[in-house]
Amino acid sequence: MRFSRRLAEQLEPSALSRRLARARAAGAVRCDLTSSSPSATGIAYPEELLEALRASSSARYTPAPLGSLEARRAVAALHEGVSPEDVVLTASTSESYGYLFKLFCDPGCSALAPEPSYPLLSHLARLDAVTLEPYELMYDGAWHLSTAPLAPSPNARLVIAVSPNNPTGSCLSRAELTRLSALGLPLVSDEVFHAYPFTDEALPSLLDLDLEVPCFTLGGLSKQVGLPGLKVGWMILSGPQKYREEIRQRLALIADTYLSVNAPAEAALPQVLHHGARVAAAIRARVRQNLRALDQALAGSSMTRLTASGGWSACVRLPATREEEAWALTLLEAGVVSQPAYLYDLPGPTLVLSLITPPDVWAEGLEVLRQVVSDSS
Ligand SMILES: Cc1ncc(COP(=O)(O)O)c(C=O)c1O
Repeated sequence: MRFSRRLAEQLEPSALSRRLARARAAGAVRCDLTSSSPSATGIAYPEELLEALRASSSARYTPAPLGSLEARRAVAALHEGVSPEDVVLTASTSESYGYLFKLFCDPGCSALAPEPSYPLLSHLARLDAVTLEPYELMYDGAWHLSTAPLAPSPNARLVIAVSPNNPTGSCLSRAELTRLSALGLPLVSDEVFHAYPFTDEALPSLLDLDLEVPCFTLGGLSKQVGLPGLKVGWMILSGPQKYREEIRQRLALIADTYLSVNAPAEAALPQVLHHGARVAAAIRARVRQNLRALDQALAGSSMTRLTASGGWSACVRLPATREEEAWALTLLEAGVVSQPAYLYDLPGPTLVLSLITPPDVWAEGLEVLRQVVSDSS
């Protein structure tokens, strides 16, 4: 039997994953500081939202490849000046990436993508026979696009930005997005965490810019209203009008081949987005509360939080007295689950923690973290 190379050769779980599975099975996990599913972290969902989902469930099915007009209108209304015809519905942000790879990349082509960033991106690319060419984000007390010249290979067909990025929480400035666009390739900005700024200042968006290349801004229900299971995502087209009609036609062909958007969730989308604004507000409040608690817990310790602008994660730099995985294992022995930052190609020793953790679990986990670090110094 021969398998395709679209999947990694190595399917074995890492030593840390095995230890974690054993700790979970033994009931030895006291504080999971990595859960990123709002419904598993005590975020409440308004009854009206759940009612809208119940009401939309029916056997009626009238598929529209790019999404129904009502649903596209509801997504467009989230952003000033966006027309419903520039909205394309998908089943998730992951699927949006898949569509864009299919739209622009032949097998063997590549896409520029940030490093560090979200690890699923390389799997998504690989499943579409696309490779990623990393461009560097650098940290000097704040995150920046490296000033080194961007040098895409002749195979590059697409540039991806993730802003706010996962896990760094960093945003590309308008000038940095403009610099990426100067490569002359279609530009994709994954803005799934855009509704979660750490302060009241709005974050930059690709939609604010008037660029010369085809642009795609990605979002979805999984982060917008904390409901990944509904399977609705979207992309918003911007950039020169002259490209948009052909892009829409080609995307419609791809989407028509799968028709993967969940019909009841699509029918309920206007109500879900409307009532989901309360879920987003609750998640934002949770994130900010946990950030304050984190900063208090780190004050006077030998740990620092890397500066960030938004999202659901915090990156905490630990003393270099141990390897990152050793820190994560020591914490696990004390019942606390954390994520080593190497999973995101982020230099260590750094741990990635989920800011949507329930506050009581967060407080207890941070106390253990402080203790473990202070005992070992
Ligand atoms: C940056 C980023 N984009 C996309 C996704 C996945 O979104 P979806 O559930 O819509 O596929 C995630 C999930 O964590 C993410 O961190």
